[in-house]
This record gives sequence, C-alpha cells and structure tokens, in this order.
Amino acid sequence: SNLSVGAAHGKIILIGEHAVVYNKPAIAIPFTEVGAKAIIQEGGNDESGCRLNCKYFCGPFENAPEPLSGITACVHETLSYLQVEKPNITIRIESSIPSGRGLGSSAAIAYAVVKGLFRYYGHQANEDEILRLAQVAEIFAHGNPSGIDVVAVGSEGPIRFQKGKGAVPLPIGKTLHLVIADTGRFGDTRTAVESIRTLYEQDRLTTQRSLDLIEDFTYHCEQAMAKGDVKLVGCCLNLAQEELSALGVSDEGIDRLVDVARDSGALGAKLTGGGRGGCILALAADEQDALQLSISLKEAGATETYISRIGMSQHH
Ligand code: PMV
Repeated sequence: SNLSVGAAHGKIILIGEHAVVYNKPAIAIPFTEVGAKAIIQEGGNDESGCRLNCKYFCGPFENAPEPLSGITACVHETLSYLQVEKPNITIRIESSIPSGRGLGSSAAIAYAVVKGLFRYYGHQANEDEILRLAQVAEIFAHGNPSGIDVVAVGSEGPIRFQKGKGAVPLPIGKTLHLVIADTGRFGDTRTAVESIRTLYEQDRLTTQRSLDLIEDFTYHCEQAMAKGDVKLVGCCLNLAQEELSALGVSDEGIDRLVDVARDSGALGAKLTGGGRGGCILALAADEQDALQLSISLKEAGATETYISRIGMSQHH
C-alpha cells in the first residue's frame, strides 16, 4: 500500500537563543547526527481518521495525551491545508533526538510529519508552507517560539535567523569543532522564555541591555566565523553565556559543565537552546581537543556527549 516518509535532523543554536524571541538574529547549525522520521501509511483506522504510532503513544488521534497535542494540531492543520477530509492514515514517528535538550526534537518531528504528509498526498513541497505548518506544533510546545527551530532542522548548513526575515546561509572560514554535552536534565523552553518575559516586564532596561549585548556578540561571532577566527568565536560564546546567566536561564548544572569545558581547554562554552537543563556546547580548537573535551565532560557527569563539525557530526 501507499507509504511516504518525511525526515529532518536535529539543530544546535550556536549563539543568540532567547534574544531571537525579541527579534534579534541568532546562529543555528544543523545537527545531523540525530534526526526524526515520520512514516505515513494508509489504513489502520476504522474512523477514517488518523492513527499515531510513536514511543509514548499508539492509537487514534482523539486519544493522544496532552503532550502530543502540538503534533496532532499540526497534522490537522496540514490535512486541512491539503484539503484531505477522510485521511485514514497511520503516522509512525521515530526519533533519535533526545527531547527537552534544546536539540530541536519537537521541531524536527513536526517538520518530518508535515513533509511526510505533503509527499503522501503528492503535494509539491514548498519550504515556506512546510515551515508555517510545522510551526503550529512549536506554538503548542513553546508558547511563543521565534521559529528558528523549524528552519534549522530543515537547513543544510549554518544559518543566521531573524524573526520575520527568515534564514540566511552563513559562510564558514574554518571548520568549527563543537562538543555538545547533556546535563541529563529536561530543559523547559516554554518556562525559560516566560521567565525572561517576566524579567523584561519587571526591569526592562537591564533585560534590554543583556539582549542587545547578545545581539552584538552574535554579530561578532558571525564575522569571526566567516574569517575563520575560531578564538574570537569562542570569546563570543563565553560572553553570550554571561548574559544568558544574567537573564536567569543558566543553572548550576550548566555552569558546572561550562566551567569544566573551559578548564579542559575549550575556546568557549555556553548553554544551547532554552537552558535550565538541556545541553551545553563547547568549542574545541581541533578534532583531538574535541575528543579530549568530550571525555572530560563525561567524567564531569554529562549523560551524553556529541561531537559536531559544523554540518558533519559523530556520536560518542
Ligand atoms: O527549543 P530550544 O530549547 O532549542 O530553544 C529555542 C530557542 C529559544 O530562543 C530559547 C526559543 C525560541 O523560540 O527561539
């Protein structure tokens, strides 16, 4: 019978997270070591509706638990866009992206599902339509998402993203060796974004200053990446981490891994994504240093580490 697959990879925000919610630019890179797949198949549903088959749930859409409401809303929106009235399909979701770690899990699943549905119904995929529909799931997951995640999980290379302006591919002067280390704790992006909003309303001047500084560091980071000035990239990452700390989205576990990374020779280290749990990223001078950093971070308690060379990456 009829079968279609949609796929997306993970993403890493190099710099600019949170500020991007306030219309500042941010830099994201594809994280191809992990990914999500949506397999769309005909049948499996008596009600001529949709069936979902994933790690946490298997059954008709109507019975899907609350945390999956983003994905079901996204499917409904996509089917209505494609003018499908009686779908009678089963959507199987497979993902190797850990959820709640700032690595783009929810966005990649949404992107893969929309792409899979477009393929299944023979609709010519238009990137802007896919992004808009995948964003429906992100709004459920995050409340007020900037949109960077859905763009980054479908992007082939590093991008600068800005709300309302979309993504611009970024030139890279020299390979960046990144180590991603998982604190092992769930990072609630929605809460983190809301906490900065509260801060913004309580103390606009100080908050705005931090957001403006992150914008500056992001700008300088982009220039340094283009020139291949890896040390300067590292500096920008460290400076951004200072501001993320000031904004209250870092925490003890993140700070500890960031310190270990810097003490072990990282050129820069910071949280990545929403923060308050989730992952840190560390910039290494070369492949060898990246391996060493990865070992040090594991010893310091990171539950998982990954090495990523801009687009290409390896699992450790
Ligand atoms: O989904 P996460 O945890 O990688 O965070 C996305 C980046 C934020 O800037 C914190 C939120 C957003 O919507 O851009």
